[in-house]
Amino acid sequence: MFQRILYGGDYNPNQWPREVWEQDMRYFKNAHINSATVNVFSWAKIQPAEEIYDFSELDDIVDMLSREGYDIVMATSTGALPAWMVKRYPEVARTDYEGRAHKFGHRHNACPNSPVFQKFAAKIAGKLAERYGSNPHIACWHVSNEYGGECYCENCAKAFRVWLREKYKTLEALNAAWNMEFWGHIVYDWDEIVLPNALGDGIGWEKTAFAGMSVDYRRFISDSMLDNFKMERDSIRKFDRETPITTNLMGTYKGLDYFKWAKEMDIVSWDNYPAYDTPWSSVAMRHDLMRGLKGQPFMLMEQTPSQQNWQAYNSLKRPGQMRAQSYQTIAHGADTIQFFQLRRSKGACEKFHGAVIAHAGTDRTRVYREVEQLGRELEALGNRTLGSVHDSRVGIVFDWDNYWALEYTSGPSVRLTYVEQIEQYYRFFYDRNYSVDMIPVDAALDRYKIVVAPVLYMVKEGMREALEDFVQKGGVLVTTYMSGIVDQSDNVHLGGYPGPLRKLAGVWVEEIDALAPGQYNEAVFADKSRVKCGLVCDLMHLEGAQSLAEYGNDFYAGMPVLTKNAFGKGFVYYVGSELDAEGLSRTLRMAAEDAGVSPVIPEETGLEVSRRRAKDCSYYFVINFRKEEAEIPACLVGKTDVLTGRQTEAGEKLSQYDVKILQVKE
Ligand code: GLA
Ligand code: ZN
Repeated sequence: MFQRILYGGDYNPNQWPREVWEQDMRYFKNAHINSATVNVFSWAKIQPAEEIYDFSELDDIVDMLSREGYDIVMATSTGALPAWMVKRYPEVARTDYEGRAHKFGHRHNACPNSPVFQKFAAKIAGKLAERYGSNPHIACWHVSNEYGGECYCENCAKAFRVWLREKYKTLEALNAAWNMEFWGHIVYDWDEIVLPNALGDGIGWEKTAFAGMSVDYRRFISDSMLDNFKMERDSIRKFDRETPITTNLMGTYKGLDYFKWAKEMDIVSWDNYPAYDTPWSSVAMRHDLMRGLKGQPFMLMEQTPSQQNWQAYNSLKRPGQMRAQSYQTIAHGADTIQFFQLRRSKGACEKFHGAVIAHAGTDRTRVYREVEQLGRELEALGNRTLGSVHDSRVGIVFDWDNYWALEYTSGPSVRLTYVEQIEQYYRFFYDRNYSVDMIPVDAALDRYKIVVAPVLYMVKEGMREALEDFVQKGGVLVTTYMSGIVDQSDNVHLGGYPGPLRKLAGVWVEEIDALAPGQYNEAVFADKSRVKCGLVCDLMHLEGAQSLAEYGNDFYAGMPVLTKNAFGKGFVYYVGSELDAEGLSRTLRMAAEDAGVSPVIPEETGLEVSRRRAKDCSYYFVINFRKEEAEIPACLVGKTDVLTGRQTEAGEKLSQYDVKILQVKE
């Protein structure tokens, strides 16, 4: 997709006098920066009034960057509304969860179903493409910015009713899907449908009286914003047929079904902002998820070179940390490294957000020097890693419908949060350097040896067949408590949990206990060893499966907590309670062994080791994220580090944040 690793980031010269631009060009060149993302929030500047467009400043910016040979990432500017538009057409602003119509303010603030917003957004995107689309320096289009949030205005209500009509055709079908007999909420007219916010069936933002309705509303909002994206994309395409078009996503952001979105994007890009205490495994999982959206390399559209401003505690990145984090990003599939931002704001709420050029305005800073070092290295790395791929045999299911539905449940436990559950399973594979793909529920499963589907609460049509087929042919499936419970409308699969997975898992879950913080049970294995378990406890009966561990306490002591079922040529592990780390690794070790999957390197090590396969060789990215030094694994001794050209030696140590990229012919 790109000829080189794009290295740069958000650049807002419009916020600065011209002398600063010239200085910037020198600083950036010396730092080997080769790309700039412009025009992200400039709508009010390039369209100062309804009938007036003024591209003079943007022309100058584009000319300057083109002259200097930059790869320009051109944003469409629709991430923040101009004040005049909201004043003249109040419908372009959003109505919030409490039902308050917003006046002008903030960003990411347009109602996705406002026809006026749609008209203006499509128009500006087209105008930009018409003007700049033939410039060969435009490397990528960046539509809007971090789509997100939701709206509950009358236009959204009307559009929701149309969306529902298309989906359900009849009110009978809709009433049945949402189980509206409950509390006598039956609707007899499409106009009786009210949005599930605080004025309707919503309960304090995250909960709802009717999950079927609320999940549909999330699907609808995700689709509405996706329509906004498609509309701008199509406007661009009228004038520029080739340049890739993206929008910057946000990892595990809850509001949008990114698997659906990715199908419409030429390349996935995302913004990575871990906090000081975010585990590296969580960062890696998000990268793998972003790669998984299209099963292709992605762009790192934003990361801070030093610190954030909007987190609770915005610690500095330690020396070497930004570099290590950048290589981790490439290791997991990125083909670009871009920062927010190139020059630090003078005012407003991001003035404490890190940037390549700090308020001191010089290149004599630690952060600049680290950016410069990385720039030099990436330039030397050239294009060799671009487009290289992962060959994972472990698939972990991630599904936005499940994310929404699981977290809407009223009961059994408020501590059941989707991403945290998935992360526990990911961490096992990460710690042992297995290559993992994060996959959608409708993925082609053939290429995987093991599929892990934790809290697969909502089992939609076709999934049961796909999973049965996968296991039948020899695959290993791991699933857990709170799986197979509801259908796509959040109505329970009747006949006993885990519903459609019951035959596959060979168990029947009769009841689900919830344990409060501090309470726990135990899983007792056949060898009498015990591990802790908690959160929820499935009380289950074997229906063909074999029990691997039983509860140690309470009135259900002796009932199975962990089971394994032979199904066709494969196996299904069912985990009935949240196991502690030891219990979980014991379980997943067994499952991985059954599946015959192996990690990227056979040796156990505290280092993060990932592999990208290029045409005639592989690149092993070896990174030390721990405080303690770690030795290079024996199997990687004698390999060439493409960053230094040196061969690794036996006993060589990596300190915290050290990185090696080893080229291996295989
Ligand atoms: C987001 C936005 C940027 C900026 C950064 C700050 O990712 O896209 O405009 O606000 O956050 O971290
Ligand atoms: Zn709206």
